[in-house]
Amino acid sequence: MILVTGGAGFIGSNFVLDWLAQSDEKIVNLDKLTYAGNLQNLSSLSKDTRHIFVQGDIGNTQLVSQILVQYQPRAIINLAAESHVDRSIHGPEDFIQTNIVGTFHLLEAVRAYWDELEFIAKQNFRFLHVSTDEVYGSLTQNEPAFTEEHRYEPNSPYSASKASSDHLVRAYHHTYGLPMLTTNCSNNYGPFQFPEKLIPLMIVNALAGKSLPVYGDGQQIRDWLFVTDHCSAIRRVLEAGIVGETYNIGGWNEKPNIEIVQIICTLLEDSFPGSAFHKFITYVKDRPGHDRRYAINAMKIERELNWKPAETFETGIRKTIQWYLNNQQWIADIQTGAYRKWIEKNYPKLLS
Ligand code: NAD
Ligand code: DAU
Repeated sequence: MILVTGGAGFIGSNFVLDWLAQSDEKIVNLDKLTYAGNLQNLSSLSKDTRHIFVQGDIGNTQLVSQILVQYQPRAIINLAAESHVDRSIHGPEDFIQTNIVGTFHLLEAVRAYWDELEFIAKQNFRFLHVSTDEVYGSLTQNEPAFTEEHRYEPNSPYSASKASSDHLVRAYHHTYGLPMLTTNCSNNYGPFQFPEKLIPLMIVNALAGKSLPVYGDGQQIRDWLFVTDHCSAIRRVLEAGIVGETYNIGGWNEKPNIEIVQIICTLLEDSFPGSAFHKFITYVKDRPGHDRRYAINAMKIERELNWKPAETFETGIRKTIQWYLNNQQWIADIQTGAYRKWIEKNYPKLLS
């Protein structure tokens, strides 16, 4: 049994689905169901007893302790977080509460549980903390990609809150000996991503004939990784990562934002002959403090754990666009808020 936090979000739901497609080991999924949590993503598991969903906050030490005692997980994958940079700029408080204070309370509950485990279970236990490349700050055009040794220089309330949680995780390993692993991953894309992030927003807006807002000059660079590759990397680190170590995860695929938007427009035009999506591209005011470039050096995980991404951007973006084209009801349910009502109907016990 493993415990996943944030398993109803974008990466979390992909992780849960992938895990159960490859193994019969049960998952307890603890998720607060903020706006970003969508149990519809996991509707295919509604009758699958290997998935146990608990609605709750990682900051609720009592609840987390109960879950740990009841289910005795051998590992925890901590994905729960506030994750959207723009939201962190407009309202940082939730980011401080969940990403810093919440992680602290989670760690306290885990420490108490781990302390009581028998010798072998204690040795084998793992806490895998999922973090981001944004903690390393911003690169200029010619600087080498981030390695695990790069200093922390977070620039947004989001990345500062993630950096704080990484430091707490590091301190709990160093001080209390908790068996921690940390991963720092670049930008993910793929099925089930909330249409506030660049790639799904552009697909959804284009299909609705709305403008495609490109911040600033559109020359900011991100490294893009298809979400199932992130999931396989997490599984690999959990399986073979050295306790106390940090692993960068990336797609070896740096692209300026404007190029991403143009690729999406071109692929949509191929899908709808005679259509014109490029005309919707609109340059808008830049994001405050916008990091210019992220790039991940993922050699350590390749060398030490033999992990490499399976998808290229060309294959991943086609799969992603096709997924959104095939799942227009999922998009509509998010836009109307119906995905929240779906939870009331299908998980009545959560609300009783
Ligand atoms: P997301 O916003 O789609 O999902 C976050 C999930 O966490 C949601 O289901 C939400 O309900 C849940 N949650 C939020 N606060 C919670 C709390 N206090 N207690 C319990 N659950 C809570 O995020 P995502 O894009 O899937 O990212 C998942 C993790 O991966 C985050 O830690 C993020 O920092 C990290 N990450 C994301 C990316 C990316 O490109 N999306 C890249 C690198 C790292
Ligand atoms: O690098 C990893 C991070 O990637 C994760 O830790 C975050 O959780 C995740 O949200 C993502 O952060 P970004 O800020 O890079 O992602 P976002 O999709 O919001 O933006 C990607 C780039 O596109 C960024 O340079 C801002 C730009 N952008 C974004 C939006 C939503 C636009 O130009 N227009 C937009 O409308």
